[in-house]
Amino acid sequence: MSKSVGWKFLENIFKNIRIGKKLSLKEVADKTQISVSLLSRIENGRRIPTKKQVIKLAKFYNFPEDEILADWLGNKIVKEIKKESFGLKALKIAEQKLSYDATLFEDVSFSNAFKLPNRRYIGSKTQLVDWIFQKIIEETENSSTFFDVFAGTGIVAQRALNLFEEVALNDILYSNEIIYIAFFENSYWDKYKVIELVNFYNEVKPSAIEENYFSIHFGNKYFDNNTAKKIGFIREDLEKRKSSLTRKEFAILLASLIYSMDKLANTVGHFDAYIKKQILPKPFKLNLIHAENFSNVKIYREDANNLVRKIQGDIAYIDPPYNSRQYSRFYHIYENIVTWNKPELFGVALKPTPQNMSKYCTVEAKNVFKDLIDNLNFRFIAVSYNNTYNSKSNSSKNKIQLEEILTILKERGETKIFEQPYRFFNTGKTNFNNHKEFLFLTKVND
Ligand SMILES: C[S@@+](CC[C@H](N)C(=O)[O-])C[C@H]1O[C@@H](n2cnc3c(N)ncnc32)[C@H](O)[C@@H]1O
Repeated sequence: MSKSVGWKFLENIFKNIRIGKKLSLKEVADKTQISVSLLSRIENGRRIPTKKQVIKLAKFYNFPEDEILADWLGNKIVKEIKKESFGLKALKIAEQKLSYDATLFEDVSFSNAFKLPNRRYIGSKTQLVDWIFQKIIEETENSSTFFDVFAGTGIVAQRALNLFEEVALNDILYSNEIIYIAFFENSYWDKYKVIELVNFYNEVKPSAIEENYFSIHFGNKYFDNNTAKKIGFIREDLEKRKSSLTRKEFAILLASLIYSMDKLANTVGHFDAYIKKQILPKPFKLNLIHAENFSNVKIYREDANNLVRKIQGDIAYIDPPYNSRQYSRFYHIYENIVTWNKPELFGVALKPTPQNMSKYCTVEAKNVFKDLIDNLNFRFIAVSYNNTYNSKSNSSKNKIQLEEILTILKERGETKIFEQPYRFFNTGKTNFNNHKEFLFLTKVND
């Protein structure tokens, strides 16, 4: 057998230690029960010892077992890959796989990865999705396509992805689009590359980071200053690397940043205001999201009323905002982080000038809702609605009444209403004891 570099190391160790200790082969053989001839062959590199023999010798010579076992295993691997022309390539792949697995057990574990609902979002249907689909499935026979027109978190579309052949989802927010690409889009991404970057970001110490756009504006307000510095650093670095990342890799890293930020944000769940008490500093950790690839998904970021004029299918699910509270204002920090235009910010809440404002939150709500319903080219229309319109708080008052929705839907076809008691988000001003969640299901006339 030809000698390898690694093997030379191992044989030298055993030979050198024995000579250093002034021991003969016979003396070592007597103590270790390894024959003289075998010992001699091991020392000359003509024989690979078994693992048991390596441990025995290491123990006898009082030499760190791990060191010597690592050399022994390295040697065995070299012997194996040397036989093959593709050996080196295989070694590289093995190395990548191992670093990935090691990370799984250590740090950015995919088992700890954020799932789609692990995020605070006003109006999320996470608690209602089972009930919604139970009704939809009962009422919409022979359907293979599903469109979530105001997808928000994407939780409804996610369920649909496992039930229908084709699923489309849409929202006007940039931050939601990035999250959909990250969680659902069927495009290439390299897990190892993403994990390596996450590890790199998690190793950077806030003390090594300079103040930046994000920390200057949001430090000690929505986040403690170290966290804000780190968020700003990561976002700026991602921008620099954008051209070397695929669209999905970039989206996964940004979505991971958003989900990680949500865990430390000093808010009640949105960015209309921050809590004005001292922030207890907690170290920021970038955690990955649980990214998947679905071949049956289409992602849009358009005004719903424009988009519905362009697509058709079996089921359209409609869950617009019903009060004056604009989502682009609630989640302005995520919009800022995703677009990264570093706009000038105003007011105590540090918002940019308004953009992506929804007509569904204005006096025009009823008209745009009617326009949307009238222009849908779908066999079934499912509409979610909740009865907040009796609320005392103006911002929580509904812009469209239940009867108005019913009238508009009935013009398109036979409409059923289902209801379910439900407690949901409010900032404390309003008592929603009698809160109900409604689902309208319309079978559109031919
Ligand atoms: C009530 S939320 C949807 C919640 C979603 N069903 C969920 O479970 O997460 C309404 C969503 O509509 C979006 N939106 C508001 N106006 C829109 C418009 N004109 N076109 C598209 N999306 C709009 C908002 O950004 C928000 O995410």
